[in-house]
Formats: sequence, C-alpha cells, structure tokens
Amino acid sequence: MTWKLAKNELDQDQLLVNESLLALGNGYIGVRGNFEEGYGDDLKSIRGTYINAFHDETKIKYGEKLYAFPDQQQKLANVIDAQGIDIFLDDEHFNLFEGKVVNFNRTLHIDEGYTSREVHWVSPNGREVKVNFNRLVSFSRKELFAIQVTVEPIRNVQKVKMVSTVNGNVTNYVEKGDPRVNSEHAKLVALGDARVVGDYRIVQVSTMNTNLSAACVTSYTAKASESIVDSGVIRDTFQFEAGSGPIVLTKKNVYTDTLRHGDDVVSRGVELQRELASFDHLLVEQKYYLDEFWKIADIEVQGDQRLQQGIRFNLFHLLQSVGKDSVSNIAAKGLSGEGYEGHYFWDTEIYIFPFFLMTNPEMAKSLLMHRYSTLDHARNRAKEMGHEKGALFPWRTITGPESSAFFPAGTAQYHISADIAYSFIQYYLVTKDVSFMQDYLAEVLFETARLWVDTGHMKDGHFRIDNVTGPDEYTCIVNNNFYTNSMAKYNLDWAYKIYQELDDKAKTDIQDRIGLEVGEVLAWKEAADYMYLPYSEKLGINEQDDTFLSKKVWDFDNTSEEDYPLLLNYHPLTLYRHQVCKQADTVLAHFLVEDHQDEETIRRSYDYYEKVTTHDSSLSYCVFSIMAAKLGYKEKAYRYFNETARLDLDNLHKNTKDGLHMANMGGTWLALVYGFAGLRLKEDGLHFSPVVVEEFGQLSFHIKFQGRTLKVELSDKFVHYTVMEGESLNIHHIGKGVQLEPGQRKSFTY
Ligand code: BGC
Repeated sequence: MTWKLAKNELDQDQLLVNESLLALGNGYIGVRGNFEEGYGDDLKSIRGTYINAFHDETKIKYGEKLYAFPDQQQKLANVIDAQGIDIFLDDEHFNLFEGKVVNFNRTLHIDEGYTSREVHWVSPNGREVKVNFNRLVSFSRKELFAIQVTVEPIRNVQKVKMVSTVNGNVTNYVEKGDPRVNSEHAKLVALGDARVVGDYRIVQVSTMNTNLSAACVTSYTAKASESIVDSGVIRDTFQFEAGSGPIVLTKKNVYTDTLRHGDDVVSRGVELQRELASFDHLLVEQKYYLDEFWKIADIEVQGDQRLQQGIRFNLFHLLQSVGKDSVSNIAAKGLSGEGYEGHYFWDTEIYIFPFFLMTNPEMAKSLLMHRYSTLDHARNRAKEMGHEKGALFPWRTITGPESSAFFPAGTAQYHISADIAYSFIQYYLVTKDVSFMQDYLAEVLFETARLWVDTGHMKDGHFRIDNVTGPDEYTCIVNNNFYTNSMAKYNLDWAYKIYQELDDKAKTDIQDRIGLEVGEVLAWKEAADYMYLPYSEKLGINEQDDTFLSKKVWDFDNTSEEDYPLLLNYHPLTLYRHQVCKQADTVLAHFLVEDHQDEETIRRSYDYYEKVTTHDSSLSYCVFSIMAAKLGYKEKAYRYFNETARLDLDNLHKNTKDGLHMANMGGTWLALVYGFAGLRLKEDGLHFSPVVVEEFGQLSFHIKFQGRTLKVELSDKFVHYTVMEGESLNIHHIGKGVQLEPGQRKSFTY
C-alpha cells in the first residue's frame, strides 16, 4: 500500500482533487489526472497539460498603478491536450457515469512511475467490457507522454471504436474569488497548426504575447480508419472487431517547445518520435529510473503505514515537478495544477531545495542555475525599486521578472533574496565545489549583500531594515522583521567570508565583473555585525518585528472553523492589525540560523508564536514539527508531521484541486531529516541530534554529502551511521565528533 495510491472515488469534489493527486510529470511536462473520455457534461474537470516555464504574459490591471508596480504578469499556459480517447461499444459511449461500474481501480504506482485505471463496466444496454488505461510521463525521455488503452469485450459487443483526439484549442482555468487561482485571461495560447503528416499528428500552439511555441507530435500503434482535422482538433478513429482477445491502442505524444528545442519545434518532435520504444519498454525504463531514484531518496518509517505512503507520495511528486534543465525551476504547485500560475517562489530554496541537495546534488545545481540565469532581472528590479546597487529577486516569477501584483505580500518580501543566497551557501557546504563558489556563489552573495546594505541603515548602533514583509503574510510592511534581518545577516556574513576565501585572480575577476569595491566588503561586515535582531526583554522571545507584540491578539476563541483560511474572509488590514500569523516566521528563522540565539529564547519564542499561528499556509506545519522535535516536544512534532505528510492526500487545505503543495512536500523530507534525525548543516560538516519518536519504531534514509553516501538508521534507542559510498567522514553526533570509516556501521544511543 505504501508504494501505491488507490483513488476510486467518482464524486465531483474528489474527482478534481484526484486530478492533482494522480497528475504525472517529469519536471518538463505535467499532465493532470483527467479521464481520457472526460466525465460527461454534468461534472467539472480542470483539464491540463503543462510544460514547465512555458508561459504567456498578460497585462496587470490596477485601479491605481504606482511607480515600479510590475506591468506584466507571467502565467503558465495550459498547452495541447493529448489526453482524449473516447471508446464506443457498437456506438454506445463508454462513460463511467452511466451504466453500471462493476469494478473500478485507479492507482498511482509510486515505485513504477505510471497510473492505471481499470474498469469493469456494463453499458445501459447491457454491453459488458473491461477497459484499462495505463499512462506515463517518461523520466528518461522528457518530451514523452504515453497512454496505452486495452479494451476487453466480455458480452454483447461486436465492434469497438476508439476516437482519439489531440486538441490545440485549449484555455487556462479561471476561478473568481480565490486570490491563489488565476481569475482572468483564460486564453494564453493560439492555435498555430493542426495537421496529419504521414503517421504523425501535429499540433502547434503559440503564446499570445511571449512569442513562444509548443508542439505535440502524436503517433499510434494502430492505423486510423479516419483522421479529421477540425478547428484545431485532430480526431482519429480506430475500428476493431470484437472476439479475438484484448484490443490494444498506444498513443505516444511528444512535446517540444521553443525554450528548449530551438525554433523548429515540429521537426524536433518528429525526430524524437522516431526514437521511441514500445510501451512495455517504456515501463521498464521508467522502473529502472525510479529504482535509482528511490535507492537514495526513499525514507522508510515503521509504524503508521499511512504516513509511509504520504512520505513516498510527496517525494515522488517532488521528482515529478522539479525542472532539471536550468530553464525552469519548481512551481509552487509543481506541474499538477494552475494554482499560483506556475510561479516559482522562495518555496524552492527554503522548503524543497534541501531534499534535492542531499539526495541528488545535480538536480539541486540545476535549480540554482535557473536562479542564476535570472540575476540580471534581479539587478534591474533592484534599480527599479530605487536601489543603487544589488539584486532584488522577485517574489514570484517564471523567467525572472516580478509577477506579483500585490506588493505588501509580494515584492515587499525582500527575504527571498536572502533565501536564494542561503541555498547557494548550502550547496557549497554540501559539495565544497570551489569553481561553483568562484563562478556563481560569490556573485549571487555579493549582489544580494549589496541589496541589504542599500536597503538598511545604521541608527543608534544597529543596522536596521525597514518596511519589508517577512514570511508571515498576515503581518505586512514592518520594520525589522526578525526573519528578514536574521537571513540578511547570514547573507552578509557569508558574502564577507567568501570574499576572503577567493584567491587573487578570482577577486580581480569578480571585481571587474560587478564593479566591486573593497569598501563595500567592509560595509557588509559592519551591517552583519550590527544587524538588529529584535528581542523582547519582557517575554524573553524574539519579536517578529518592531510592532508585532504591541498589537491586539486575534480573537481565536470566537473565530469559527469556516473563517479559515482568514485571508479569504478578512481584509488584509484587519489581519495586519492583529497578532496573528499565517505561517512560521520567527520560528523558521530559529530553524535556519539557530546559532544566532540561545535555546531558551528559541523555546519561549516557539511557545509564544505557536499560539498565534493559524497555519493557513501549507508552509507552516513542517517548520513547527522540526522545531518541536528540536525542543523535545515529541508529541507535537509527530502531530505536526502528520499534518505535513498527508496534507494533499487528505486534502487538508481543501484546495488540492488547484495543484499539490510542493513546499509542504519538501517540508515532509525536512521534518524527517532535520526534525526527527536532527540534522544541521554547518561549516564543520554534518551534525545530528536525533529525537526518539516511538510511533515511528524505525526511521532510515540516505543523504549525499561531499562525495559520500551516508545511511542513517534510527530506532527508538539507537542511531546507526554507515558510509555506504565514498571515503571516511567526520560527523557530529549530539555535539561529539565521530569518524566513520567506509562500510562500517557505527551505533550510538541517544
Ligand atoms: C504563502 C507563501 C508561499 C506561497 C506559495 C502563500 O500562501 O504564504 O509563503 O510562498 O503561498 O506557496
């Protein structure tokens, strides 16, 4: 059960949720789990196929547009729909919402990377059939989405007809009333071409404004009796006689786009079609790829099997969503839906990146390279925002320009620049890659350090940063947000440190490249040393910002269940005027840069902020789980972890239909590895401080670190460390240095 997810519901709400849960992707393309034949007219579906980073731009409409508000917004486009296959049994349409469903099994095979939908059905006129749809989006051939349909007539069926479509007339999904979903501009692509050339069906679309094109080239394993092209839809009919065993049709769709494949997307698609293998072979390839992935990425827990399933499901979707080509990143909803319009946020760096960093550093690097490719946009944005120097990364974007229209909870989240710097530093700590440090890390750190020096100022002996928003989007535009200041301090400290580490040639190089002066480096050090980190003497906690603690506490007792998430029911100002947090803020800073504070401050802060946090954002539970584990609040750590591991599976935020919550999925890995195993990545290597959670019985996982693969196994009394690959390694177990020899399993009590 833990490697499979069965989803057999047929009610409207759950069908939409299942479209996200059973979405397939490979970081390049993503296809929602729609039914090939649709649901009929009475039920709604969000039918979607996406290419990571393939987007259009639309003009943002403002009532009042002030200086440097972004003009355009990028939006991930829904592209050519190749899912369609209708089946007719002697002209009776196969449809699960009519006739009688004798048996229905719909499964996501997490270990094998495909979905199956097995139906045993009797039509209203008594025709009986078994139909099986298998589909996969290939990891080894990134452009390929394939469907195999098997029809087995059982009773009263003479002829089987399949009508398969490739549809270039597609729109995006819109929904009014939820700011997390696109509310207008449904039409993002226009039809370019739809034709049949030999064995190939070719559909091409182009974006309205960004001048991008995508093509889908489709082939079939059977010969069509008729192919019709009508208004951008290619419709192929396949006729079969019943009686000689199962009827099989395989449909292979190759997607290409101008961001990756050059201008002639059709020719490239046709070339790729020529190299394809049989469906059975594709399944074998897929399994091989996933075996390699799971060897390192899997985390095993004993005890609650539902949690184990949640963990694997979440890690699988991270793999399905992550851009692996430096052209793209990982969207807040991955490639499973249109919520947040395919935008990349800080979710990547703070919540998702560590998983890839420590299980697949190559993929992690590609995420960094994507951010690096947007550095010029960030430099321009900093200028636009009135800074003399530096780089201000956008709150939400696809290719680099700021796409956030609501600046208090958007552009004002300056912390994203420090978050990105943080992830570059983490990569360096894990790989010790010196050429990466010289070629990329230094530049990103220096440009972001410049931003902080330009944004803040010295006053009364402190370096202060005014008018920014921290992670908590229920408290906006504040002075000295503790999280922002802590992360900026880390950013500045490291910028100074890395400057010292550069050799003379590298120093001259970067000085020339970005016009750096030595005086600036000293200013970074000064800003870091004097960074103001607000602290309340009275409560012994870090203040979220200068005014948070003086506000009125939200009346939680008189807020009903239906009023959550508060953002859908209260004007932002109402929220800003209260002590109420949407998500972890100070508590998150204590996780990421724990050495800035003593443990008692961290504990008191946790106790305080927990009471005023709604967790209306899915980015919250995992952080509270990690910090509860650190502080020895085991029951809470486990409880918050439960919310994290099954958030989408159980639709806990009630919006899984709009796509999966990727940051929370990354948070699942963080909660296990950083929470229960107590991992911290420091300059002197890996530190572990495990905490016992009886419910798990056992927890084991692998991580990659500086060329080694380390296996960590935790039981309720012991922890075992084994270097599985690579040289000996020094780690810290509860503060004590330990030398691990290759292959030797060292055990400790804790
Ligand atoms: C959260 C942000 C997050 C965004 C995208 C919002 O609800 O408050 O922190 O970046 O969702 O996941």
